[in-house]
Amino acid sequence: MTVHSIIVAPDPRLKVKSKSIERVDDDVRTLMDDMLDTMHSAKGIGLAAPQIGIHKRIIVVDTSREDEKPTPLRMANPEIIEVSDDDISHDEGCLSLPEQYSEVTRPTSVRVRYLDHENEIRELDAHGILAVCIQHEIDHLDGILFVDHISALKRNMILRKLAKIKKQEATA
Ligand code: NI
Repeated sequence: MTVHSIIVAPDPRLKVKSKSIERVDDDVRTLMDDMLDTMHSAKGIGLAAPQIGIHKRIIVVDTSREDEKPTPLRMANPEIIEVSDDDISHDEGCLSLPEQYSEVTRPTSVRVRYLDHENEIRELDAHGILAVCIQHEIDHLDGILFVDHISALKRNMILRKLAKIKKQEATA
């Protein structure tokens, strides 16, 4: 089990478009497991590889509550292939934007195609919080943060706040 440190915005490494992987091999499987450990130890429900500085199209998600059985999902090259017409507005947060939340509107349901941890092509229909989380994590693979979906005014407020905290921590 390896817990990686999570990159906090603003950081240019979070704005990079990640590359597809060729196949899910032992190295990718280990990375997926490390990402789940990292995500769980940070009490998150999703994590994308670029958040730990690895620019590969890999995400992990687990939206089960603490009192529920874990439902970890490991996805490589995830792709949204269908979206619903109706939208949902959800208060989103992100491990790369600690303590910051804002309402983001996205399709309520999505169909996602991906490679699982055994290199099998799978499709999943996701609704509600799971659909929100998967869309949020796939955004990371394209260098998009949830604050890129809100007004520039709110976005800059949040990013300035985080930059200030980083600066304080660096000089502390
Ligand atoms: Ni995030």
